[in-house]
Order: sequence, then C-alpha cells, then structure tokens
Amino acid sequence: MRVLVIGSGGRESALAWALTRSPSVTSVFAAPGNPGIARIAEVLDVDASSPAAAVEAARTMNADLVVVGPEAPLVAGVGDALRRDGFKVFGPNANAAHIEGSKAYAKELMDRGGVPTARWQAFDEVDKAVGFMDELGPPYVVKADGLAAGKGVLVASERDEAVEAVRDRIERRVFGDAGASVVIEEFLDGEETSLIAFTDGEAVVGCEVAQDYKRAFDDDAGPNTGGMGSYSPVPVCPPETADRILSEIIEPMVRTTADAGAPFVGALYAGLALTSRGPRVVEFNARFGDPETQALLPRLRSDFGEVLLATATGELSGSRLEWSPRSCVSVVLASAGYPGSYDTGAEISGLDEVEARDDVVVFHAGTAVEGERLVTAGGRVLAVSALGIDFVAARERAYEATNGITFEGKHQRFDIGLRAAEVSS
Ligand code: AMP
Ligand code: GLY
Repeated sequence: MRVLVIGSGGRESALAWALTRSPSVTSVFAAPGNPGIARIAEVLDVDASSPAAAVEAARTMNADLVVVGPEAPLVAGVGDALRRDGFKVFGPNANAAHIEGSKAYAKELMDRGGVPTARWQAFDEVDKAVGFMDELGPPYVVKADGLAAGKGVLVASERDEAVEAVRDRIERRVFGDAGASVVIEEFLDGEETSLIAFTDGEAVVGCEVAQDYKRAFDDDAGPNTGGMGSYSPVPVCPPETADRILSEIIEPMVRTTADAGAPFVGALYAGLALTSRGPRVVEFNARFGDPETQALLPRLRSDFGEVLLATATGELSGSRLEWSPRSCVSVVLASAGYPGSYDTGAEISGLDEVEARDDVVVFHAGTAVEGERLVTAGGRVLAVSALGIDFVAARERAYEATNGITFEGKHQRFDIGLRAAEVSS
C-alpha cells in the first residue's frame, strides 16, 4: 500500500515513522513533510493543505491511502476533495471536522448526545460574555470559538485578566475571525488525559491514553503552547476509566455526529478532565494529538497502516490494537521564546548520535536544511521519544537523549512524565 501523509509537524513525523514500520505499507510519502520525514520517506515539496493541492499530490504519488495530519486542511475540506476524486482518506470531511473548527458547535453536539462536559455559552458581545463569566465565578475559562493553533484558550483566576481576554478576542481580534465569538465555560478540575479513538463513522477502536503538557514551563507555569511533551500510558487513567470514556463519551459523540449528517471518519481526539464526578470533555479534536502521537505510536505493536485503511474504508469493526506495556516519554525541544516570538536558523547538533541509541526516536517538528546544516525553523523543533520498562527508565533515557542534542536557544521542560513516574513507582 502506498500512503501519503499530509502535514509537516512532529505529529506527521510520528505518523510517517509508524507507517514505515507497518508490514501492510510499501511506500510512504509526505507533502510537504520535513527534513526528518525526508530521511525515512519520500517528500513532495508542495504544501498540500488546500483541497486542490492535496488531490494533485495524491494523484502524483498514486496514493492508495491519504492520511491528513493537521486540523486546518481537514476544516478546509481536503478530505471531501480527495474522496470526491476517489481516494481513500483517513481524516473527516469538513462538516465532521467542524467539531474542532468551532468550539460552540462541538459543545452543541455534546449537549445533544448527553456527553459530559463543562457548562458553557457562546457570545459575540463582551458584556454578555462577562455576565456569564461572573455567574460561573473563578477560575475563568475563555475560549476563542475558532481555530487558534491551540493558543485561543485562557484559564485565569483573576477577573481582570479574563475580561481582557474576552476583549482581546471579540474587540481587538487578537485571533482574527477565530475569536469573533467566544465560549465561556465552567472550570473543570482534575488531571487531564487524552484519548484518541479510530472511528469509521460507526465502529470505534480506542488507543491507549496519553497525557500532554500544554504550558511552556515546568510545574505547568507560563502560557499555553501547542504542547511541550507527552507520555503514555497514564497511570491515573486505568483501563476501566478508558473504557468508561469510550462508552460514555466517544461512542455517543460518534453516534451524534452521524445523526447530525456529518459522520466522523478518522481519529477522534477527546481531551478530558478526570473530575471527581467522572471524566468530562475539555475539547474534541478532529485528528491525532500533537504531541500525544509522539508518545503513543512508539508503543503500538499492531500494523498501523492496516488500522488506518480499515478506518478509511468502513471496515474497522472487529479490529484490535496491540500495545507495548512499556512506558513512553516524549520531550519537545523548542526555540526560546515559544509560544511567543523566537529566532530560527540555529544549527542543530548531536542528532545522529542520539538517533542511533536503542529505544529512542527523534521526530522533527520545526527543522530545515541549509546547505549541509540542519537548523531550527519553528517554535517546536524536535520531539524526543524514549521507551522504558517504567516511567523512571523512560524519563532517564529521554532526558539523556535531549542532553545530547544542542542548538542555540534550546528550551525544554524537565518534568515530562514526572507525575507518572511518581505515581507508578
Ligand atoms: P483547549 O484548547 O480547549 O483544549 O484548552 C486548552 C487547555 O486549557 C486545556 O488543555 C486545559 O488545560 C485548559 N482548559 C480548557 N478548558 C478548560 C476547562 N473548562 N476547565 C479547566 N481547564 C480548561
Ligand atoms: N495536544 C493537544 C492537541 O493536539 O490539540
């Protein structure tokens, strides 16, 4: 099977890597990919995030299956265009991806399907938004309705800060049109965890759970980022809890999207808070999590290509996934300043030696090749994933590896997987 991956980030690096290890897959292509993917697959130098470009890339590569990584192309209708052209696609059509494209729409569907989530309302007027915020009380949760690269959410205990966040979104349009409408919701307490499930629109097969770290600095300080690291499995979310999430949250959501005339085909991502009243949805995404995927796929033992194809073709029922019992920790190496402004073009060294180590895999996220040199080219530069018999061993291996990689302005968190190591040891 010839598989084309659309996208260029750390998640797509992990998807491409797992596909190259799948017995069912003969060739892996990526558009546009990145220098890390280029070492293991054939990359096409085209940005395939528009429907026309995606179709062109799939035709050029004669793809048997197209896997769409990021949310933006899905929301833009890349899945629809590819399907219209006869391609098998892993990833929802635009109407189903709308659960990520609009937080208010996702909330409406959750309410309709009886899926447990935070109380909420959507507003496009500052005064009314602030009124509902006051009704709920602190901590305040303010979200841009539309896509904002994971940065449109503010959680604050200070009322002034929350009011400014409402103004930033609705009046000052800090997130452009994505913030013209805001969702104000109840604060959910409890550990967060992510469950990604494959669904062909009917059948559902869950992955094991993972947890990501959204804040920029250790101990969850600093601004929200796209994700600074992840680990899997999650000791505070045992298999019984994961089963409950599948039956109380994922399965009803899959039925509700189908009933709404927008059946979901692909990876349905539930970000959850494990509250004292049970698991509650923080958000749904229409794709694999980034960076959860970088900690999940190194643990997958099943043929990844096969399950993606079964999902894309409505044949998922009866599939089972096998996971390694080992722990995986994935640490993101970012550019100083991220998620704000940062420099690029710093030379990266030490990668070859680190990549040669057992049980370590390095996924590129924001890198570029300049002449003979590999340089930084994004906020998140690399994700370094390591497996171990437990979280203590996985962390040790991951951090030894990150120590071996250097570039000017390297920023990372040092507490990835620490809670899991403490809980499970
Ligand atoms: P989202 O993009 O909706 O996942 O929000 C980003 C992050 O903000 C989440 O991972 C949580 O850490 C936090 N967050 C979002 N919604 C809530 C909520 N209702 N209660 C507590 N924290 C939240
Ligand atoms: N890790 C959170 C996300 O992928 O949106």
